[in-house]
This record gives sequence, structure tokens and C-alpha cells, in this order.
Amino acid sequence: MSTNVEFHDRMLSLGLARVAEQAALASAKWVGRGDEKAADQAAVNAMREQLNKLDIKGVVVIGEGERDEAPMLYIGEEVGTGEGPGVDIALDPLEGTTLTAKDMPNALTVIAMGPRGSMLHAPDVYMEKLAIGPGFSEGLVTLDMPPATRVSALASEKGCAPSDITVCILERPRHQDMIEEVRSTGASIRLITDGDVAGVMHCAEPEKTGIDMYMGSGGAPEGVLAASALKCMGGQIQGRLLFRNDDERGRAAKAGITDLDKIYTRDEMVNEDVIFAATGVTGGTLLPGIKREIGWLTTETILMRSKTGSVRRVQYRSPIEE
Ligand code: FBP
Repeated sequence: MSTNVEFHDRMLSLGLARVAEQAALASAKWVGRGDEKAADQAAVNAMREQLNKLDIKGVVVIGEGERDEAPMLYIGEEVGTGEGPGVDIALDPLEGTTLTAKDMPNALTVIAMGPRGSMLHAPDVYMEKLAIGPGFSEGLVTLDMPPATRVSALASEKGCAPSDITVCILERPRHQDMIEEVRSTGASIRLITDGDVAGVMHCAEPEKTGIDMYMGSGGAPEGVLAASALKCMGGQIQGRLLFRNDDERGRAAKAGITDLDKIYTRDEMVNEDVIFAATGVTGGTLLPGIKREIGWLTTETILMRSKTGSVRRVQYRSPIEE
């Protein structure tokens, strides 16, 4: 199968927005219904159906899991019509299944696309992540620094006190020491219960979101999605894979990863220009959620291209299908 047709990111971007929109619309009826699985399944079905309408020879590199555990949108699944450029696809049809089931903020449908070979094939393990927004010196904060040093380095380059910095962290017992260390600097912490793709993206628009830095461990696939977003919006992210057992190390080997301690920069996770779309499912600081009116559903999608740094916010009003 030839994959040497040029990656027309400009032409494909609206198609990508449609994919994210349809996944969000499908999950709309599950918002606040307490059923994570049904919400996720609805988003997966819709995303796959829409993706298969795009003129691409797509391969899912970040998806719903390994082939034996995920029947749809599994890693390695070929998607698209088979006509057009060969592309890598990273997706999370519903990032924040629990947020959706409980109608809590910042659940998103997320998809990124780049030329074949552009994305790190991150296995489904944890990743330690650290992100800041655009405009700072490269490598200003690193994963090798203790959390308190990251805060003081960022405050000093920003020209503010550590107490003016807000850090976003997933609320998990494994982050307790990190939370205490960050608090000891005087910085404020926004704890989130889920959804670290949104958590990282918040760093790129600090005036709007109030978040300066993201740190902590979460899913490695979400790390590659977050890197794709920051490649478009600007900002830095570093990620280091975390392995809890031999099975997880085996997953890395299967994905062709040999250096298990490597710290990946944003451009190592995503090494060519990408397009990225995310649609708000539940309302948050980055995107509004799906709006319901009699007969209509309205979504908002952030649609971005790293080649141009363009960021669009696309509103879509769709009649409710009975
Ligand atoms: P789901 O949407 O698959 O439920 O994932 C949500 C999420 O919060 C991610 O954003 C994050 O990377 C990961 O789960 C964190 O994992 P854990 O809940 O095991 O700490």
C-alpha cells in the first residue's frame, strides 16, 4: 500500500473536526448518566465511523488499547477510505469517561493526525509528565528537577513570586508528596480528578485558564495527545514512561522502545507537523460542553495546525436525531 501521497493537513483539518464533533454528539446522551462504558462506547463507534469517511490511509498508533483488548480503534487498526496520504492517528474518543458519567468539567473527545511515522508509539503504561505554556526558555523546567525547583524556575522567568504560580495536578495518592512539595513553595494547585490532556492544554492559555504548569503521572497515550496539542498551541512538555512490571516493559519492547528511562521532549513525541481537534463534552475552562436546546445540540471544537500555529474554535449546531 503506497503512503507517499502528500499529507494535506489544511484540507484534512475540517474532516478531523467532524470526527471529534461526532464522537462528542454521540456521547451527549450519556453525560451525567453514571455509565462510563456506554459513554465511551458511543464515542468510539461514532469516531470510528466518521474516521472511515476520510480519504486517508490511516493507522491508529495511539488508540483504545491492544488489539486483543479493544475491538475498535485498537493500536494498529487501519482507518479511512484507503485513498489519500498515509497518516498516523492518535485518538481518545472520550478523554474523561468518569467526568462524562458524573457531568464534571473538561471531558473532551480528542484526535490528532500527522504523516506516517510522526508520532511516538507510546504503550499503554503510565507516563510522568511536565508541561508549561509558550514563551519560556527551552528546558526551563525538566523532569529531573524536584517539583519545588520547577516552580521557582518558572516563577523567576515569569518575573513573579512562586505564590503567583498555579500548578495543575491529578488528584491521586501517588501524587501526595509532589502536592506537598509544590504547596511548600507557596504555589497554588488546581487538583483535577481526571483528564490530563485538558490539564496540559490549560498551560498553553494561562490567562484564560489560570494554569501555569502541569505535572504528575497519567496515561502515556494521553501524553502523546497532549504533546500534539502543545505542538500546535506552543508550549513545552516532557514525558518519561513509567513501568510497574515486566508485562508493561514488554509492551514497550513491542512498541520498539529500547531506552526505558528516556525523557521525551514534545518534538520527540511528535516529530512532524500535526493537526489536532478536541470537542468539549462537558463544560470546562478550555472549551464549553455540549449545549442542548429543543431540537438541537451545539458543540465547540478547538481545531489546530502546528504548521501554521492556527487555532480555530468551531461551533457546530446539529439537529437531534430521534
Ligand atoms: P479515561 O478517560 O480513560 O477514564 O482516562 C482519564 C484519565 O484521567 C487520563 O486523563 C489520565 O491520563 C489517566 O486517566 C490517569 O490514570 P489513573 O486514573 O489510573 O490515575
